[in-house]
Amino acid sequence: MSNNQEDSLYNFKIVQWFTFCAVLYLLVGTFVGLYIAAELAWPFLNFDIPYLTFGRLRPLHTNAVIFAFGGCVLMASSHYIVQRTCAVRIWSDKLAWFTFTTWNIVIVSAVITLPLGLTQGKEYAELEWPIDILIAVSWLSYLFNFVMTLANRKVSHIYVANWFFLAMMVMITYLHVVNSLAIPVGLFKSYSIFSGVHDAMIQWWYGHNAVGFFLTAGFLGIMYYFIPKQAGRPIFSYRLSVVHFWALTFGYVWLGSHHLQYTALPDWAGSLGAAVSLAMIIPSWGGAVNGLFTLSGAWHKLRTDYVLRFLIMAVAFYAMSTFEGPLMSIRTVNALSHYTDWTIGHVHSGALGWVAMVGIGAIYHLIPVLWNTKMYSENLINVHFWMATIGTVIYICAMWVSGIMQGLMWRAYDEQGSLLYTFAESVEAMHPYYALRVLGGLVFVGGVALMFFNMIMTIKNSGQTAEATEGGR
Ligand code: HEM
Ligand code: HEM
Repeated sequence: MSNNQEDSLYNFKIVQWFTFCAVLYLLVGTFVGLYIAAELAWPFLNFDIPYLTFGRLRPLHTNAVIFAFGGCVLMASSHYIVQRTCAVRIWSDKLAWFTFTTWNIVIVSAVITLPLGLTQGKEYAELEWPIDILIAVSWLSYLFNFVMTLANRKVSHIYVANWFFLAMMVMITYLHVVNSLAIPVGLFKSYSIFSGVHDAMIQWWYGHNAVGFFLTAGFLGIMYYFIPKQAGRPIFSYRLSVVHFWALTFGYVWLGSHHLQYTALPDWAGSLGAAVSLAMIIPSWGGAVNGLFTLSGAWHKLRTDYVLRFLIMAVAFYAMSTFEGPLMSIRTVNALSHYTDWTIGHVHSGALGWVAMVGIGAIYHLIPVLWNTKMYSENLINVHFWMATIGTVIYICAMWVSGIMQGLMWRAYDEQGSLLYTFAESVEAMHPYYALRVLGGLVFVGGVALMFFNMIMTIKNSGQTAEATEGGR
């Protein structure tokens, strides 16, 4: 099929815009991450300006990388994949643009309200009630359009990537609505309808499932489409991917309580969370093996295909963080890791190594297809790959060392039972590792800046090179 025919069959414009926004928001979100990392190492960077304080910029970082970057990359790839695998145009162009516009209004509202200190104080659910309503409307439009496109499909089969996206859309809408139930007392102030231990449990049922369905299921949808596509081989085992899907979907919803070990929550609830967390190693590794083995007989491609490198490295990090997470859910391990930088190390091995890398790989695959051209520079993709990998490794190693040291210092005591270290001493000991994290972050952000440049130059040149790549989609 020629490119022109494809353009009239599929709506690629919407995918182009989500893709562009994803790269822009990744740059902004990781830059804010870098800045708050520097504030932790050198607190004077707060400059006594309330809008720049760590407490206000931290949620800006998490919202920007998870919902702005993560959301846009998921929306770009799902709008693309559902059209290609169903051989049909997105059900409603207007609804797709509605999703795009409302989602971007949500992001701009977050950028304004969070530095102003307007927040519900719930992690990953900070935004105030009017924005929460807009999020629900945006996700419902996204879900409805996706389901209608599936219903209109021209092929009998629903490819597994779409199952993962669908599970993400249904669950995120449901989790978001329940966790955000609140009574407004003003335009920018509301109180949650839950209180005490119930509030904590609902929040972490939401919090972990945001990880499970947004940062995992959705990005697995990306993995299941782009690895086979980029490698030019079918997925290693389709049956395994279906088992992976059902096991993950049923398992994840039980895990939230592992965030609340040693709290007012009943012990059995924490133990249940830990037991199911441990069981999750099986489907997670099954999925990772499925992604990696897709390259069986084609491993040599990694030597020259830089995009494939991103995707495969991401799966390796996915395997690593889904081994570490269950380990941290065990009570005795959690007693050491909780409240320390070990958690931050785990988060970023998942966030930088898995989420960002698989997203970046998908975007590098999409850009030449969407703009019907070649990437401006393949070498820059290679440099970016190494910067992303080295930056991630520096970041997470620094946090593992800092976190385990912190935990051990807090619990060390002498023969009389007195603590060996004051809290301030543990803070001082962490300083070199915080500086090291800034270095890792700087390398990572540098790579993202190269990607942004590469994307802009590719789009600029796309008019001139379109002819040369005709038929290359
Ligand atoms: C250059 C890259 C990045 C840097 C330097 C960075 C830095 C930071 C810092 C300093 C914190 C606060 C840690 C603390 O409170 O002690 C943080 C938290 C967080 N970041 Fe990043 N970050 C980066 C990229 C990302 C990306 C790409 C994602 C997600 C896709 C992400 C997700 C998160 C999350 C979820 C938290 C909260 C963790 C928790 O509460 O346990 N970060 N980041
Ligand atoms: C089977 C898979 C996984 C399990 C069982 C798991 C388990 C855990 C545990 C036990 C914690 C620490 C809770 C605490 O002490 O408060 C945690 C924190 C976290 N994990 Fe995972 N993890 C898994 C995979 C992942 C992946 C792939 C990501 C992707 C980014 C991720 C992101 C996070 C985040 C953002 C937090 C910090 C939450 C917070 O306190 O703000 N996890 N995880």
